[in-house]
Formats: sequence, structure tokens, C-alpha cells
Amino acid sequence: MEFNVEKIREDFPILKRQVNGHPLIYLDNGATSQKPMQVIDAICDYYKNHNANVHRGIHKLSEESTMMYEEARKEIAQFINASPEEIIFTKNASESLNLVAKTYGEANIKNGDKIATTIMEHHSGYIPWVALAEKKGAKLDVLKVDGEGIIPESEYPKLEGAKIASIVHASNVLGTINPAREFGKIIHESGGKILIDGSQSVPHMKVDVKEMDCDFFAFTGHKMLGPTGIGVLYGKKELLEEMPPFLYGGDMVADAKLNSFKWAEVPHKFEAGTPNVAGVIGLGEAARYLKNVGMDKVRNHELSLLSYAMEKLGAVEGLTIYGPKEAEKRTGVIAFNIEGISSIDLSSFLDEYGIALRSGYHCAQPLHEELKILPSARASFALYNTKAEIDSLVPRIEEVKKALS
Ligand SMILES: Cc1ncc(COP(=O)(O)O)c(C=O)c1O
Repeated sequence: MEFNVEKIREDFPILKRQVNGHPLIYLDNGATSQKPMQVIDAICDYYKNHNANVHRGIHKLSEESTMMYEEARKEIAQFINASPEEIIFTKNASESLNLVAKTYGEANIKNGDKIATTIMEHHSGYIPWVALAEKKGAKLDVLKVDGEGIIPESEYPKLEGAKIASIVHASNVLGTINPAREFGKIIHESGGKILIDGSQSVPHMKVDVKEMDCDFFAFTGHKMLGPTGIGVLYGKKELLEEMPPFLYGGDMVADAKLNSFKWAEVPHKFEAGTPNVAGVIGLGEAARYLKNVGMDKVRNHELSLLSYAMEKLGAVEGLTIYGPKEAEKRTGVIAFNIEGISSIDLSSFLDEYGIALRSGYHCAQPLHEELKILPSARASFALYNTKAEIDSLVPRIEEVKKALS
């Protein structure tokens, strides 16, 4: 099927909105994406026609809910080339990342061990390991970036000998795509494990966890056209089996006695309590939607937007774009600053014209401090954005410059 952005836009009702009297130009996809009717309808259909608790009743509605929930698990597993039992549902990527630190990390990291991570992590992939290192007396080794926001090979030895590495697949500030498979090889040579944060890659490019050979892979539903409140953790089955549970309670036990219990098989062992059934079903539909469009086509479209935007924004005097110069090395995220203008003022001004951009540290304060840059503005694209929207953005930025400098 031909990629037709106008046709895709028709699926997203919010894109027809006016904001402050202007057509919405939504360039804050790095924070959260908009949702197509297919996802909204799937959630409505679930509540209207099938709602019941899962894995518990033997009545018709419970059977239907359980079937829809488990079908969505299969859809999501297939989307990243995993097996369904390797897919754990959480409430977001932050919970998925914390789950690894709280279970695998707590059980395996000892005093003096090394944990590796990068300076470009989102706080959710960074802080759980800072906290664990502090608690256990472990050493945190942080891979730094070069002037283009790429981790140079001279930093790779920091991965050697690490018990675990928490690595962002694509940075939510620089857009940099890290060589996850190569990093994994280095870690595995000395018996360590690798956790990849795919929050900013899964919505924008084809991901295959088997090919990547990562041990854990975390992502979040709301950035990939799915609802809020639902996240995913992939883990290699043998690792999930040996890890202790995260939360205790209903659904995660196979047998409960007065003073003991036996936990359920994976993935249920990690899904205590009533799950976000509607969220899972919505996320399954989002994965189906992206699959039907085709992730290669999504990536190509976003790459052409990215190249176009880098060229247009790069021509604005006083504007500095952070991250790799070559579009192929990054995802559709452009963080930038304009000399003499705060990113907050810029975003507020653009909002008056219906343009949604993010400003601040983007939950990556250590990166901003390392690069010695101020909180930045960030335009981030999704499959429904257009070159015409970038053409509207650039003259507005010029207007801000005139008004504020
Ligand atoms: C790279 C990255 N990791 C993790 C997260 C956290 O996602 P969530 O807030 O859904 O837990 C984000 C969200 O911005 C992100 O960009």
C-alpha cells in the first residue's frame, strides 16, 4: 500500500482541531502521540460490549475479555518479534525500566559491581540505576557523547565487565540511534545483560528484539498511537523465569497457602492485580495500525520530514540544532535553541498560533548539563506530520525572533 499522509491524517480526529484560532500543528510526538479512530473505537468497543475481568471468570464476557487481552499480547509480541510469554504489561516505560532495576537489579547487583548507562538516557532509564548503585554500593559508568551527540567508540570500553547496561535506543533529545546490538555484544562477552529503552524507537522504526539480542526491552504505549497508562517490558524468557516477581497479589500466584505461595508462569508472574485491559486492547490495535501502514514506510516518511526540517531550521540565524548532522543517524526529534530566546518563551509564542512544541530538559537534565546547554525547544514528528506543517513553523520562529530579540 502506498504511503498517503493525507489519508493517514483522516484517521486522527484531533488533527482537525483549531487551537487559538489556528489549525493544530502537533509537533510534540516525543511527549505523546495522537490516537487514530481505530484505537479509540477498539477501546470503546471493549467497554461497550465485552468489559469483564480477565483470567478470572468462566462466564462469556470474561472469556471474551481474556481472549482480547491475550490476542493483543500476541499482536504486540509479533510487532517486535518476541514470543507472547516474553511480553509483560506495565503502566508505562518508566514502570518497565524500574521493574528491571527492582527485580533483576536487586537480585543480581552486588557491592562493587559495575552498571553502565549513557549520558543521553531519559530520567526513567537513568535514575532507577543511580538509586540502585547507591543502595548496593555499585559503580555507575556513564558513556558520554561527542560534539554531534553520538557515543564515540572510545567510550565503548565502559560497557566491558558491566553486570547490566541501561541504554536508550533512540534519544528523546538528540534523536541519536544507538547501536544496541553492538553494545549488547560487548556486554554479553563478559556475561552482563542489556536493557534497551525503546520508547522513542518503537513508534518510528522497525524493531526486532531477537535480531538486537537484547535481554530486556522497554517501551510505552502512548507514544506509539496507543492509550496512556499502558507500557511493555520484553524480557528473554529464561531471564524472566529466574527473576523474582515485581508486585505480589492476585493473578501472579499459582498456589497460595497459609505461609507460602508458588508464583504463576511468566508473563503472569509479573502482572499482579487487575490489568489495564482496555489499555492493552487499545495498544494491540495501535500496533496493528502501525503494522498495516508498515514501519519501513513510517521511517521513510519521518526521515524525509526530518531532513527537510533540519535544512529549514538550520537556515534560521542563531538557531542551533543538537544531535547528529546526518538524518539517517537519528529519529524525527529535533531539539534546538535560539540565541537570546528562552525555549519556554518560544513554545508559548508558538502555542498562540496552534503549534505544539515541547520545551525544557525533556527529562534528560544530565544530558543538557553535560552539553552545557540551556533547556531546549523540541519539535518531534510522527507519521501524520507534513512538510507543510514545517513550512508553517519556520516563519513563526522568525516572527518570535523579531518580537523577542
Ligand atoms: C526515551 C524515553 N524513555 C522513557 C520515557 C518514559 O515514558 P513514560 O513517561 O511513558 O513512562 C520517555 C518519555 O518521554 C522517553 O522519551
